[in-house]
Order: sequence, then structure tokens, then C-alpha cells
Amino acid sequence: TWSAANIIDEQVAAIRAQIGDGKVICALSGGVDSSVAALLVHKAVGDQLTCVFVDHGMMRKNEGEQVIAAFRDQFKVPLVAVDGEERFLARLKGLSEPEAKRKAIGAEFIRVFEEEAEKIGDAHYLVQGTLYSDVIESGGGTGAATIKSHHNVGGLPDDLQFELVEPLRALFKDEVRAVGAELGLPEKFVWRQPFPGPGLAIRVVGGEATKERLDTLRAADFILQDEIRKAGLYRELWQSFCVLPDIRTVGVQGDERTYGYVVAIRAVTSDDAMTADWARLPYDLLEQIASRMINEIREVNRVVLDITSKPPGTIEWE
Ligand code: XMP
Repeated sequence: TWSAANIIDEQVAAIRAQIGDGKVICALSGGVDSSVAALLVHKAVGDQLTCVFVDHGMMRKNEGEQVIAAFRDQFKVPLVAVDGEERFLARLKGLSEPEAKRKAIGAEFIRVFEEEAEKIGDAHYLVQGTLYSDVIESGGGTGAATIKSHHNVGGLPDDLQFELVEPLRALFKDEVRAVGAELGLPEKFVWRQPFPGPGLAIRVVGGEATKERLDTLRAADFILQDEIRKAGLYRELWQSFCVLPDIRTVGVQGDERTYGYVVAIRAVTSDDAMTADWARLPYDLLEQIASRMINEIREVNRVVLDITSKPPGTIEWE
């Protein structure tokens, strides 16, 4: 019968058989898949594993710190944490087109990862959090990791020569969460909503993802997450996030005319991201979120709600 404990035993044995006494590295993103994959491998081969966490400066508030606290401090996994904010921001200079931003971040990610892999030295194996659904999507076979890598910044650099370790290849998402919980992964990671590899950069839409705009968006996003969690809705939503269009609108606060950013709230329910429905968040919650954003973030003077489902919309705005 299926149990998380059985899966762990099975996978630990399989990982040991594959890796032997070799060295293995893992690009840890903080998402549930790479987190669970890393913990399984660490359980199997201990400090033969080194995780590399690249903070590209496009993460949500506090997420980098949470990754470091969980993996380095709690689980004692050897972890290289790279603060890449400056170099990623430099790459994004002048770019406003979505695919250009994705490419720039993806290319820079591979560069950083290669540098770190070189420093770690002679790692022959690379951990990937490929799920069964990824395998199916790519028609099975060994193409899975490649397809995913194009979509996921935390994915495999195609041109690096590694043998893949994919302990989640037979699992569905809910099974991955169960295994994570059994391994003691904190609830915050086990239930984390999907987050795109290029992060907040593709949520500053129609313009350059500057530090100032990213910080504004990060502050709005933090309030949204905080209120959604407090309302007990976080797990029910496939994703909930904010978007910052590159426009300003006029407002009035006190006796003053303001000219500030618009924040759009995007919250959807979905099973697989192929289709999605806009979430009917309670009016009182929306009111609370909007007034907090406008009161707490100086740059923001207007909040709107995205009521588009997928199709015809996509989940992200770009
Ligand atoms: P869309 O916007 O196409 O998104 O409806 C479907 C799912 O994919 C995520 N997404 C991405 N994930 N890199 C990623 O790793 C990306 O460039 C990217 N673009 C979209 C999105 O968050 C949603 O879950």
C-alpha cells in the first residue's frame, strides 16, 4: 500500500544505488518539488549533496531567509546561498518585453549555477524535482528534464554534463507534499503555491523590472499573502499574487493629489494551471487588502481585481 514512509525508504535505497559515493548538487528554489527532492537525496547520501540556492532578487519577501533557515539551520544540508540581486538587476536593465526578461534571467541563472558548480567541484550528479506530471507532459522518456528546464529557471542547464537524479518522477503533487511532510519539511514549504522561476520580474508588467518597482510589488505581495493566509484561504487557491503594471494613476489622500502605482490582485483556483478560474475572494477581505496596500505602501494609490479566467486569460500577465 502507498505510504509516504514506504516511498521514502524506496527512494533512499534507489538514490544510494545510483549515486554510490559520488558528489551531487541540487538547484534549490524553495518550491515544494526541489525542496522534497533535496531532502530525499540528503537523507540518502548526506553531505555528498550540496544545494545551491540562487536569490535573483525577484523572490517574495522573506523567502530567501526561509530557505536558508530550513535547509542550512534546521536540516543541516550543505547549502551555498548566492545573493545575485545586483547581477540579475543589471541583466534586466532596459528590458520590458516578457520573453526578453525570461531569457535574461534564465541565462544568468545558468551562469551563476555553473560558477557555483565549478567551485564545488567534480559533482557528477544533479538533483531534479521532476514530477510524474512533468514526465507525462513531455511524452515520457528522458525529455522531461529538458522541457521543464525551458520553463523553469531553477531547472537543468541543458549544456552541463550531469547525470540526473529524479526521486519524484513517479509521484503526483499531493504525494510529494505527503513525502515532504513525513520528512519534516515545514508547512510553509509543503503547501507553497507555485511561483514562476523568473519570479516578480514577470509581474512588473509592460516595463523594466527595476529595484524600486520590484520592492513596491514585493511589499504589496506580502500584504496579499498575509491576508490570504489569515483568512484561511491560502491552500484553496492555486496561486495568489500581485501584478504591478508600468502605469501611474491619479488619486487623492488627505488633501493631497497623488500620482501612484496601480496594484492588481490575481487569485485563481486550478487543478493543473492548464485552466483556471478567478477566485471569488470575499469583499471584506478585498477591502482589507486594498486599504492596507494603500495605507502601508507610499507608492501605491489604487488597487484593482483581475476577474479573468484561463482561458481566455493566462494566469500570469506576461
Ligand atoms: P500561465 O501564465 O501560462 O501560467 O497561465 C501557467 C503556470 O506557469 C507558471 N509560469 C511560469 N513558471 N517560469 C516558470 O517557472 C515561467 O517563465 C513561467 N511563466 C508562467 C505560472 O505561474 C502558472 O503557475
